Amino acid sequence: MNTSTSSLPTPPSTPGATSSLPRIAVLATGGTIAGAAPDAANTSGYQAGVVGVDQLLAAVPALSTVARIAPEQIASVDSKDMALPLWTTLAQRINTLLATDDVDGVVVTHGTDTLEETAYLLHLTVKSDKPVVLTAAMRPASALSADGPLNLLNAVTVAAHAAARGQGVLVAFNNRIHCARDVVKTSTYAVDAFQSPEIGALGWVQDGRVEFQRGVVRAHTLASGFAIDTVWPHVEIVASYAGVSRIAVDALVAAGVRGIVVAGTGNGSIHQALQQALAEAVSRGIAVVRSSRVGSGHVMRNGAAADDALGFVSAGTLNPYKARVLLMLALAAGHAAPAALQRVFDTY
Ligand code: SIN
Repeated sequence: MNTSTSSLPTPPSTPGATSSLPRIAVLATGGTIAGAAPDAANTSGYQAGVVGVDQLLAAVPALSTVARIAPEQIASVDSKDMALPLWTTLAQRINTLLATDDVDGVVVTHGTDTLEETAYLLHLTVKSDKPVVLTAAMRPASALSADGPLNLLNAVTVAAHAAARGQGVLVAFNNRIHCARDVVKTSTYAVDAFQSPEIGALGWVQDGRVEFQRGVVRAHTLASGFAIDTVWPHVEIVASYAGVSRIAVDALVAAGVRGIVVAGTGNGSIHQALQQALAEAVSRGIAVVRSSRVGSGHVMRNGAAADDALGFVSAGTLNPYKARVLLMLALAAGHAAPAALQRVFDTY
């Protein structure tokens, strides 16, 4: 892992506007926002995570009017390759930084592909009410009309804003501010790639102005009972679809997984072949959570499957990838029985 740290800039010796600017740590992890292509018109054949954090910041001179920036290169990965130890490193580093009086907020630059998972993980494990804002880009840094620089400026603007405090982990992307729990990537190529289905963004950021239009209801950050750990319970995802077999579930049970999240059809409904295998998994002490592959809406407990009888848990509005994050944290915290896990999913 590539980790370099710069300390916060020394405030000017004469009183001036910049000395009172908020101090924002920018933690770079890679992604398309740090991507480079062979030519400026190329927005798909590029390498993610090759541009360093200092270069990302240098492309946005206006940052110096918004905050005093402390950059750190935490990693340089394509976020499709996000690994659990890197989550641990990132969350621990954020908690360390926010525990000091020297840092008023954190911005994380990240790839778009797994941003929604990392954001939700941090939402549940950051132990501070100071702002933490993730951002990313759909076009590499080398592209014509690269979206990264403005997204970065907007993310720092949100992290430096008093209204962002206590809102949990946020995602600033394409002028919108999303809650980490709600946000999902919904386009493979469009610059407006992130949405919060059903309920919409929390607010917006534009030209230095930040406005929140609604608050976050569910528990997060300081109210979360979860902590980041170095040991991650093994949880995998399986999908239900026409003609699916039980082979994947049986293989996961044989591999010793602690939990399985099902990306079910519709209201989290599960093909009967898969459901039988999952019911057997529950009888062996494996947690099974029903979510939906649909992309919006919620999964009703005891709706499409008899959760009470089968020992399944409903993921509610969490998509399969976020449900997996919560299930890992819940199992790590010692919640194992279906009723206890359902309480967790109803709370977070
Ligand atoms: C990545 O997720 O690291 C690559 C794709 C992107 O950032 O858009």
